[in-house]
Amino acid sequence: MADRSPAPDTPELRARWGAFEFSSEYKAKADKAIARYPEGRQKSAVMPLLDLAQRQVGEETDTQGWLPIPVIEYVAGYLGMPAIRVLEVATFYFMYNLVPVGKYHVQVCGTTPCMLRGSDALFETCAARGMVKGHVSEDGLWTLTEVECMGNCATAPMVQINDDNFEDLTPERLDAVLDALAAGESPKAGTQEPGRHTSEPANALSSLTAMVGENHDYRGQW
Ligand code: FES
Repeated sequence: MADRSPAPDTPELRARWGAFEFSSEYKAKADKAIARYPEGRQKSAVMPLLDLAQRQVGEETDTQGWLPIPVIEYVAGYLGMPAIRVLEVATFYFMYNLVPVGKYHVQVCGTTPCMLRGSDALFETCAARGMVKGHVSEDGLWTLTEVECMGNCATAPMVQINDDNFEDLTPERLDAVLDALAAGESPKAGTQEPGRHTSEPANALSSLTAMVGENHDYRGQW
């Protein structure tokens, strides 16, 4: 489990982020998110606004983005919420980075199905590139985090990198994905298994076989 403590609130942090505010582009997105909720319920938009703030910080720093304390306070002010309430949300969800990260946030699932399918080797692949859990690599490209199940167990092992999941990985396939990202390319997300489309059975269908040709009502057979 990665550390979920926010970066220290220092004078340097205030100097860099104290004047943060949404750009016109992000403000439009934030107001659109708020408008999805009834009048007086704007606090319900706290999660999308934190996500937008993190993305704007990411654009300004050429990283995946993170949430310095002054930015969290800005979101709180935008929604008329106590800052502590917004901090509670930011520290609870892994999708929010509380410390600076690299351009690519490599989140390797280490939970049992992924572990049984080879996630240890994926961590070794990352280590071979100089990635250390919880740290930004020297070239600023990578941050490695070990995460719990990401819901892709049927295509384990998997890694989430920024907004994409890469599944059915081997060390060689992960290397290819990382090479492509480092070269500024956009590798295909999803399963990396040749011939596999999404999470359909990797071999022949073994259940619900009557559904192959047409919709079949199984209820009478329960
Ligand atoms: S255990 Fe890795 S995605 Fe579920």
